[in-house]
Amino acid sequence: MSITLFEPLTIRSVTFRNRIAVSPMCQYSSIDGFANDWHLVHLGSRAVGGAGLVMMEATAVSPEGRITPDDMGIWKDEHITFLQRITSFISAHGAVPGVQLAHAGRKASHASPWKGNKPLQDDTAWQTLAPSALKYKDTDPDSRVMSISDIQQLTRDFEAAAKRALAAGFRVIEIHAAHGYLLNEFLSPLSNNRTDDYGGSFENRIRILVEICEAVRTAMPADLPLFVRISATDWVDGGWTIEDSVQLAGVLKRHGVDLIDTSSGGNSPLQKIPVAPMYQTPFAERIKKETGILTGAVGLITTPAEANDIIAANKADMVLLAREFLRDPYFPLHAAKALGYDVNWPDQYTRAKK
Ligand SMILES: Cc1cc2nc3c(=O)[nH]c(=O)nc-3n(C[C@H](O)[C@H](O)[C@H](O)COP(=O)(O)O)c2cc1C
Repeated sequence: MSITLFEPLTIRSVTFRNRIAVSPMCQYSSIDGFANDWHLVHLGSRAVGGAGLVMMEATAVSPEGRITPDDMGIWKDEHITFLQRITSFISAHGAVPGVQLAHAGRKASHASPWKGNKPLQDDTAWQTLAPSALKYKDTDPDSRVMSISDIQQLTRDFEAAAKRALAAGFRVIEIHAAHGYLLNEFLSPLSNNRTDDYGGSFENRIRILVEICEAVRTAMPADLPLFVRISATDWVDGGWTIEDSVQLAGVLKRHGVDLIDTSSGGNSPLQKIPVAPMYQTPFAERIKKETGILTGAVGLITTPAEANDIIAANKADMVLLAREFLRDPYFPLHAAKALGYDVNWPDQYTRAKK
């Protein structure tokens, strides 16, 4: 019998009540990195809606690691208190709270989508960091090329952020190494032409991510899961490939990473993506089959049948939905009904369960 969408999944000592995760989604609604009522209601609703894992948005490990001034952050201890309120609400409603730790690299210092989405120009702008003097777009401002001491500081920032995340009650930590942000920039030859230990060969380009995974894994209790989100391909000739991703996943598995959250793209404006339902799932499937690591499938998964088929066909261990969860916070409750599963509704809502 194949595993289905509503079968619990246990990773280390954490059990997810089903295989459905809220994919990390920036809300651009923080001031000075702080979570607030918006995040409590937004994330809390999706826990009430039945998700197995509620992953908080890209959360910056340092102020300059934010995409926009409105991003969530976790670079100081003061951020912890409100986050505890969120994780405790999510947990009380049967979901596992997770957080995505991030640094935006050369894609930082932008305006939020509804404020123009452009590089900041005024005195709110800051100097971005990058592996190399290679711009995402020609019109972008110059980034500062990271020194070895910047790289060491970045590892310390991820480690400190992980410790704060644990203090805040998160039980899954995901390192964001996708979508053209800083760690993805190190991985890809399109954005990394360094000639030191952090550039050139495959081993050198993945070094920073491996070091960060080691530091974060060491900071975590052995019974909690560590995820990494990658872009499985740059979708550009001469860029990062699915073969690179398979090799990387094998290395990360040996360094204590439990699940590869398999996205793609975002590191080059030249990318050509054949967007279609579930278009990234074959990457999750291949990484899972070739390395034995758990994977998450994400990208245009919008129906209960699609989500269930991915799990039942053993293409991935978890599905992460983003935009569908914005349309329907109760997607898991609705999916259960559509697929014929009887799952618990919150006590307060049972009179509406048909
Ligand atoms: C509003 C919004 C914000 C997002 N923010 C993040 C983020 O913080 N981190 C991340 O890895 N991906 C982010 N993404 C990408 C999603 O997690 C997901 O990978 C992508 O939307 C494809 O899934 P979907 O087709 O289910 O929306 C965001 C997507 C949306 C729509």
